[in-house]
Order: sequence, then C-alpha cells, then structure tokens
Amino acid sequence: MHALSVMPVVLCLLIIFVYFYPSECLDFKYHNNKEMERLMRNFSLITKNIHTSLYSIGRSTNGLPLWVMEFSGSKTARSDLPNIKFVANIHGNEAVGRELLLHFMEYLRDNYDKDPSVSCLLDNSRIHLLPSLNPDGFSISTEGQCVGEHGRLNGVKGNTEDLNRNFPDYFHQDLNPRQPETEAVMAWMDKIPFVLSAGLHGGAMVANYPFDSEKVTKSTPEKFPSLTPDNDVFQHLARTYARNHPKMKIGLCEDDTKPQTPYFEDGITNGAAWYSFTGGMQDYNYFKKGCMEITLEISCCKYPLPQELEKLWEQNKQSLLSYSLEALKGVSGQILDSSDERPIENANIEIIGRNMTFKSSQNGYFWRILLPGFYQLKVEAVGYYPKIVTFEVRDQTGINCPKNTKLRIFLINATTPISAALQGSEPTEGSGVSCTPCVEGAYTE
Ligand SMILES: *[C@@H]1O[C@H](CO)[C@@H](O)[C@H](O)[C@H]1NC(C)=O
Ligand SMILES: *[C@@H]1O[C@H](CO)[C@@H](O)[C@H](O)[C@H]1NC(C)=O
Ligand SMILES: *[C@@H]1O[C@H](CO)[C@@H](O)[C@H](O)[C@H]1NC(C)=O
Ligand SMILES: [Zn+2]
Repeated sequence: MHALSVMPVVLCLLIIFVYFYPSECLDFKYHNNKEMERLMRNFSLITKNIHTSLYSIGRSTNGLPLWVMEFSGSKTARSDLPNIKFVANIHGNEAVGRELLLHFMEYLRDNYDKDPSVSCLLDNSRIHLLPSLNPDGFSISTEGQCVGEHGRLNGVKGNTEDLNRNFPDYFHQDLNPRQPETEAVMAWMDKIPFVLSAGLHGGAMVANYPFDSEKVTKSTPEKFPSLTPDNDVFQHLARTYARNHPKMKIGLCEDDTKPQTPYFEDGITNGAAWYSFTGGMQDYNYFKKGCMEITLEISCCKYPLPQELEKLWEQNKQSLLSYSLEALKGVSGQILDSSDERPIENANIEIIGRNMTFKSSQNGYFWRILLPGFYQLKVEAVGYYPKIVTFEVRDQTGINCPKNTKLRIFLINATTPISAALQGSEPTEGSGVSCTPCVEGAYTE
C-alpha cells in the first residue's frame, strides 16, 4: 500500500486527537481580565509538579484584583531564597508583556525537571509574575493599536495617572496623587525582599536601566545619562536580556523590516540618556528597596494583533529565563547576633564604593547582584558594632546553575567592652565570616 493512501486517515485521526485532547496549552491570543483570572486560578489548581501560589497584591482603581503567580521548587516557603518579580501591562495599552508572562508561567511549569536551567531557577529562587498592573487601562485598549495613549493610564474615568510616573522619586519631590496600583506595588515590596525585577512595556525595543530620573533636568535637547553606583551591574543585566533577544540585540523591532529608532548599541540604554522622567518604578525599586529592576520595551507596536504573539513569545523566552538566573549571582548572606545567632533584621548594608545602602530582611538575609571581583561590605545595625567583611564573587560564566557567594556575618553587641570585642568574642574565625562561600543548605530558617 502506498504511504500516501493512508495519509487522509492519519490526518483525520490527528485532527480528531488534537481537537478532543484535553489540552492545557495556552492559546496565543489576548485574554481579557476575566479570562486571565480564570486561567490563573485554573493554572494554580491543576499544577502539581511544582509549588505555585496565586495571590492578589490589591485592587486596581476600578476594583479589579492584581493577580500574582508565585513559583518555587520547594513546598515550604524558604526565606533564604532570592525573590524575583516581573510586572507587565503597567501601561494598559502595552499588552504584549501581559500575555508573555502567562506563557512564561506555563513554560516554567512544563519545563521544570526537563530543562536544567528552569529546574535551577525554580529550585533556587522564588519567582513572582504579575501579568497586569493595569487591568483598568487594558479593558479600554484596542487590539491592533500600535501607537497612542488610549488605555495607558489606570482607572477608566476620573482619577487617572501614569503608573510609571507615580512612585516616590530619588531626586525629586513627587507631585502626582499615589494610585491604588502604585500603593499595592509598594506594599508588596515592603513585604517581600525582592532582589531582581523587570517591568514589561511596549512601544520600543530596548532594555532600559536606571536612573530614569536625573538630578538637574537639562534644558538642552542633548540627553545625558543618569547613572547609579551599580551601573556595571545594571548594564550587565540589561545586556543579558538584550543579548538573548534576536531582535533587540541588533536594533530591530519585532518585525525585521523596521529598525528601532533611535539606534541603541547592544539594545540597551540608560533611562535618562534616552529621555528622563520622575516617579518611575525601576528607580524606586533600586533606591528604596535595593531591588535591581530594569524596564523592558519588548515590541515597537504597543498592542499588536494576536497573530504576532507566538513570534513575540519566541523572541523573549530565552531572555526571560537568562535574566531571571542573574538573581542567583553575586553575594547573599545572613546577618546574625554573635552571642546567640539571632537574625538581625533591618541592618544597613553597603557595598563599599557603591553609595547605595540596602537592608537585611526580616530573617536577617540579604542579596546583592555583583559582577565577579573582590568586594568589601559594611554592615551597621542599631545596638551593634559596625563590621566590614571582604569577599570574592567568582565568575559564573558558562555555569548552568550559578552560585553566589554566601556569607554569615556576626555582629557584636555594642554593650560588649571594646577590648573583648576586639579579641574576637565571636563564635567564628578569621574576619568574622564563618565561611566564604558557605556550604549549600547550611542555613536554617
Ligand atoms: C479550567 O479547568 C476546568 C477543569 O479542568 C475546565 O473545564 C475549564 O475549561 C478550565 N477553564 C479555563 C479558563 O481554562
Ligand atoms: C552618597 O549618597 C548620599 C545620599 O544620596 C549623598 O548625600 C552623599 O553625598 C553621597 N556620597 C558620595 C561619596 O557620593
Ligand atoms: C545587647 O546586650 C544588652 C545586655 O545583654 C541587651 O540588653 C541588649 O538588648 C543587646 N542589644 C541587642 C541589639 O541585642
Ligand atoms: Zn510603557
């Protein structure tokens, strides 16, 4: 029998199978707010191979919940793991990121225990995906509309603001009334010590890093960069995203025929060097919470037709994963009382030479992404002698599952006489760091 003669039968069976197979695969289409909610609820119900938790960080101006899906490889909530977040659809009419995060959700689940990078990520971090910070604006936006501002702001009527101009600013007084969505993000960040983050936008193709704001607003048309003390890290993070994105890295829009204008070398830019503004989310993440956030412009068309979504997902998939893995690099540790190893919360931490302090978490943990090299870290906490610790961050290039340098830092009670403190009344050796790096899993809650 000729192979061709069975083709119609095979095809027919295939169609029947595809049609009736209880597929849980996500369609490449836009999901409205109701559909998105249903989908996320379903997802967390049916996902069994990995620990997920669905929660809302608050409500939009028009009362819609702001849903987050959290992933972790371990069933118990481990406070020693770095927290990563992605926030999309901050501008309601920039819709691609919203769908990408839903696909990322599915991708992480389906590739856990299959792709070693996904397993590495989920076993060593907690990742939180907020597909829509602005469901109000989204609900009035128009599919296929590439440019324009309709749907950009929150709250369909009355009290509307640009959510990415609504955060406290590093250099300037903030003027716009704080919105419920902004408050929700700020409260979320007070609760969870995020280490790495990205905000997903549309209307351009570039990875943009802080600061967006600048000290003195220049009146000349020429743009000046406004750089952070962690500029090397931010450039590296932005480059990690762009380098893994086939279009961004070469200065093209999602569509090959269209260049991103202006041209950005390597597909990255400092925010203010492009255009500066106050009240942006990424600056707040960094200066207030020590969380490294960049802004990803992932499609020149703000709300492309659904036929474009599969291509856009393919373009961003590897970038999302590689970027997330950066949270596992640099240094992390725990600050403890030398007498009883009690965790010290809210200690001020500074990498010397980088004039931007950050704080230890509720359980005394801290994380900081750093490039390979030797560093000194200074810790200060009320009631303790300050301490300086020297450490090395090793190069993780080519390593599938990056490992940061882990420190345990013991602070001595300031009531201890200075002579006793100098004699090393600590339960540790050397510089007071028990191990550099520590053995994995040496921590207890
Ligand atoms: C949710 O899951 C149920 C049961 O598996 C299914 O019947 C329903 O179609 C799903 N809904 C969505 C929106 O995926
Ligand atoms: C460090 O930052 C603080 C607060 O922004 C500023 O007042 C101080 O001048 C800075 N110091 C250096 C050495 O840059
Ligand atoms: C330091 O020790 C004194 C005396 O034991 C104690 O009262 C105080 O609470 C300790 N300080 C801290 C920050 O633990
Ligand atoms: Zn935007």
